[in-house]
Amino acid sequence: MKVVRLYFSGLVAIVLGATVLAARADPHSPAERAIHYRHSLYHVIEWNVTAMGEVVKGKAAYDPAAFSLHANRVAGLVPMILEGFPPGSYIEGHTAAKESVWTDRATFEELLRKLGTRSTTLASVAAGNDLGAIKPAFSALVDTCEECHKKFKNKSDH
Ligand code: HEC
Repeated sequence: MKVVRLYFSGLVAIVLGATVLAARADPHSPAERAIHYRHSLYHVIEWNVTAMGEVVKGKAAYDPAAFSLHANRVAGLVPMILEGFPPGSYIEGHTAAKESVWTDRATFEELLRKLGTRSTTLASVAAGNDLGAIKPAFSALVDTCEECHKKFKNKSDH
């Protein structure tokens, strides 16, 4: 009887283990989809921030309409980020996010709010078409990206 019970619990462990592995490998699991969603958002944000960065650094001509478009896009995308970090969406090896995103949630959310404020500030400053005023607002935004990455993101290839 004891042997049978041991055999049975072993089997349960194997089945459970296989289920967990399958869930992790499944690209359509809620966690994988959340990771994909937040990566996608960050890439679109990065595209627009890079375009503005070129202008601020003097590597690209300042086109007020194009700059405002980029700034407005970022301001519109930032409020979508938090949704991409639901509980349980930390999968080692699949995310560059540190586990502290979930354990030190208040700090993480505060930095996201700061990013939100700074991105809407940049968008409204950009509407004034004054590159001199835009520069500090842009730096403030990028500083927040770095501040959060230092705290909550591991180095990754992309
Ligand atoms: C509140 C914290 C926070 C802020 C602010 C923040 N990020 Fe991130 N960012 C992260 C985390 C965490 C990851 C890792 C996400 C993952 O791999 O699941 C990340 C990942 C990224 C990635 C890599 C995406 C990928 O596919 O691996 C890019 C690009 C990026 N961020 C750009 C930015 C830019 C640009 C800004 C500023 C405009 C910014 N981030 C602001 C937390 C933040």
